[in-house]
Amino acid sequence: GSLHADLMFIGEAPGKQEDLTGRPFVGRAGKLLDSLLAGIGLSRDEVFIANIVKHRPPGNRDPRDEEVRACTPYLEEQIRLIGPKVIVMLGRHSSRYILSFLPVEFDRITEIRGTVYPALLFGRPVRLIPTLHPAAALYSPAYRATLEEDFRVIERELAGAGKTARED
Ligand code: URA
Repeated sequence: GSLHADLMFIGEAPGKQEDLTGRPFVGRAGKLLDSLLAGIGLSRDEVFIANIVKHRPPGNRDPRDEEVRACTPYLEEQIRLIGPKVIVMLGRHSSRYILSFLPVEFDRITEIRGTVYPALLFGRPVRLIPTLHPAAALYSPAYRATLEEDFRVIERELAGAGKTARED
C-alpha cells in the first residue's frame, strides 16, 4: 500500500492466496474489503494494509500468542514508518493486540466495533477503530451492513483528521 497513507488496516494473517502471492487480502475477503473501501470513495492504493501475523498459520488456525509476539515488532515498525492518522483493526486478533496499548479489554469484537479510540501510539496521535474481519461477512452476510456502518465511521474520522489543531 501507500507509504503516505492516512488510513492503515491491520488484518489477521495471510490466507492461502495471500501466501501464494505475497500480498495481503487478495482472496474473497480482500474483494469485500475493496468494495467497502470503494463505498467510502477510497481505493486500495490510497491505504496501507498490514497483517498482525506475517506468515500463514497452518490450516488457517488462529494465530498463537508466540506467533503474534514474533511478528508484532515488524508491525510496529510499519506503524512507525507510515504514521497513519487512523488505524482500523479487522477482527478480534488485531483489535486485541492494538487495544492492549490503551488498555481496552473486550470479550467479543461486536461489543466494541465501530468505536473510535483516540490514542498516542509511538509518540503520534492516532484514532483506533476496531471492526469485524471482512471474512465474517462472507460467512454471515448480515455482517456486511455492520461493516458498512463502521466504514462510515472511518470516513468521518478521516475527514476530521484532515483538520488542523486550530480548526478543531
Ligand atoms: N485475512 C487476513 O486477515 N489477512 C489477509 O491478508 C487475508 C485474509
